[in-house]
Amino acid sequence: MEFCVENSNIEKQQTDCVVVGIYESNQLSASAEQLDKLSDGYISHLFAQGDLNGKIGQTLLLHNVANISAKRVLLVGCGKQEEQLTERQYKQIIQKTIQVINETGSTNAVYFLTELALKNRSTYWNIRFAIEAIYENQYNYDEFKSIKPENHQVLRQITFNATNQIEEVTQALEHGKAISLGISYAKDVANCPPNVCTPKYLSELAKGLDTEYENVTTRVINEAQMAELGMNAYLAVSRASENEAFLSVIEYKGSPNTNAKPIVLVGKGLTFDSGGLSIKPSEAMDEMKYDMCGAASVYGTMKAIAEMQLPLNVIGVLAGCENAVDGKAYRPGDILTTMNGLTVEVLNTDAEGRLVLCDTLTYVERFEPELVIDIATLTGACMIALGNHNSGLMSPNNELAQELLNAAQQANDKAWRLPLGEEYQEQLKSNFADLANIGGRLGGAITAGQFLSNFTKKYTWAHLDIAGTAWKSGAAKGATGRPVSLLSQFLINKAQN
Ligand code: BES
Ligand code: MN
Ligand code: ZN
Repeated sequence: MEFCVENSNIEKQQTDCVVVGIYESNQLSASAEQLDKLSDGYISHLFAQGDLNGKIGQTLLLHNVANISAKRVLLVGCGKQEEQLTERQYKQIIQKTIQVINETGSTNAVYFLTELALKNRSTYWNIRFAIEAIYENQYNYDEFKSIKPENHQVLRQITFNATNQIEEVTQALEHGKAISLGISYAKDVANCPPNVCTPKYLSELAKGLDTEYENVTTRVINEAQMAELGMNAYLAVSRASENEAFLSVIEYKGSPNTNAKPIVLVGKGLTFDSGGLSIKPSEAMDEMKYDMCGAASVYGTMKAIAEMQLPLNVIGVLAGCENAVDGKAYRPGDILTTMNGLTVEVLNTDAEGRLVLCDTLTYVERFEPELVIDIATLTGACMIALGNHNSGLMSPNNELAQELLNAAQQANDKAWRLPLGEEYQEQLKSNFADLANIGGRLGGAITAGQFLSNFTKKYTWAHLDIAGTAWKSGAAKGATGRPVSLLSQFLINKAQN
């Protein structure tokens, strides 16, 4: 799909379809008003006749409207004019619009819904959300279907109408495209089956970014090197798997100051989590291919920032690993010496993410980061706490937490902060080691975050638990690409100050 911005002339526009908004109670948007005048009151007439009510998502397709060059006019209901749209309502409107345009066979369209007012949002957001919604609408994963579903997609080009603020609008377009691409990349890796998407596969993707972008360098650390580094917790998790672990380090240098401290993103990349000897129940175990969604989101975000060429230094780390079952498997009762020296008693081999992450979080100390954010499908407890709507955010640092919450709100990729603290640390006590790898049923998302906090004392750090938000189950099973938008927005904000 191609997107452009233009100050269009609605009367002379040579296009397959012009898209304009109408409101309830016979109210017209500015462009609909113009069309109405040009066509001697045709739209008002339709309202009077009862063909239109302007409710959100209602559409009416008109052909050969008098005095208009466009082949078609699509009227789209946008609710009550005096009530500004929420992000959800706007998304609903866009999805319906794209669906209808596609049914018409139009290959190009001019979009006048840039006029719509979103609650507390500028035109930048109107366009950025439109692009993200259009990409989302078009996404499907049919890599492994021998009979590909028929592609009804004929729409090729959308022109966003903009009367002024061309610079802001052009930026919305660029950001929207880059972030959407990042989201699609993240979804593709996440949806990929675990017999194909192995830790090795993740490392190949990471190297792909190196090849693609001049200012990206990727290094991959294998198990022998991890052993050398003392990453024993990470290696214990990987031991039962036939698929060797790989830690990929994707370094993006965009800052004009090459010595600027990097922002480090660490993604949990369990390409499959069987639970290990503390094996999971078989119901929905297939969904544990999504246990690498943290890594997928880091990969997608690196793609997005490389596309935008943000003036920042960012390091994306994919902690690839598989938690399998085998005679070589690590056991409940094992005590592991982590890379930073703390010992951990394994009480449940299914609490593996924190073991892989704790060594990775120690490893990234060497980059002397400005800050570190880890992203992980870490706990079922986080899904219970926040459902599928908000990612769980934990950080001992109020400023960083607030910046992430702001980015989440801006990008409409929601997050909610959960506490950390010494009370939770109590729950992680072990009789035999410095720490236990689980803290009991209560506050499970928090004790997991608290566990990680023991390994992040040397830098500013935040943790995002995306267990509830990274994919959807049920009939619409699939990766969501979250929280690529949140992370990209956080980095856009960082680049701007
Ligand atoms: N990857 C899972 C968390 C998870 C489970 C995410 C279900 C999404 C859906 C993680 O490795 C895990 O198994 N966590 C355990 C921790 C427990 C043993 C303390 C969990 O949440 O049950
Ligand atoms: Mn697990
Ligand atoms: Zn896991």
